[in-house]
Amino acid sequence: MEIWIDTADINQIKEAYKWGIVSGVTTNPSLIVKAQKKYGISDFSMQKYILSIFEITKDDPVSLEVTSTDCEGMYNQAKNLHQTFSEYGKPVIKIPINPSEENKANYDGLIVTSRLAKEGILTNVTLGFTPEQALLAARAGATYFSPFLGREDDYIKNKELKHDNGITGGADLLENIMDVLNPYGFSTKVISASIRDISHVRNSAKAGAHIATIPFKILEEMAKHEKTAEGVKLFVEDSRKVPEYEALCNYSSS
Ligand code: G3P
Repeated sequence: MEIWIDTADINQIKEAYKWGIVSGVTTNPSLIVKAQKKYGISDFSMQKYILSIFEITKDDPVSLEVTSTDCEGMYNQAKNLHQTFSEYGKPVIKIPINPSEENKANYDGLIVTSRLAKEGILTNVTLGFTPEQALLAARAGATYFSPFLGREDDYIKNKELKHDNGITGGADLLENIMDVLNPYGFSTKVISASIRDISHVRNSAKAGAHIATIPFKILEEMAKHEKTAEGVKLFVEDSRKVPEYEALCNYSSS
């Protein structure tokens, strides 16, 4: 399973890339707002800021979400974003599967996705909450599909439901999606998203998600265990008792 970072915070991206474990970035408008507040990015310098993300990611995918909710609007934004950033890296256009129930534009996400797929523009169909949406996105030629595990958990909990359309939680949603897509050899890759804790990461890997996009805080948690830190402390203390061994470690033959 690939690990991507779910943030628009340049310093978090820089740091996680240093660890050598990240191979992509996902953003959304809420994450952009957070970064804008933190770094005081003006409208004027937004493009420059996002370009600085592409400088780090190089050929790795970077998801950027459209903000329009109708077909033409999303299509035009997708083309603009693709045009602006594709010479610097690999922009992936995030399209909500079902952008606007109120406007009855329920299928626009699919229409735009299939149009972009025919033009070779990479898409990440986002805000996924059912295996059926995943199937539709795959049929439309989505490059990626993102089920939102944490938000599915929240939805079921907050509404005090036993299940949502037969789905009992975020992990179950992902498992069902993998079961539905896997037999048919779709090229669409599943990005496990809205990850809130390390159990979501573990369950994503166990379910065979192609990618998990993970917030920085959870990447940090994944690397930690109290017993690891305690063990290192003891080894360092013991190494002081064998200076010959420490000298060997420090010996450079060059
Ligand atoms: O990748 C999707 C993610 O950014 C949404 O996460 O925690 O806002 O549900 P969250």
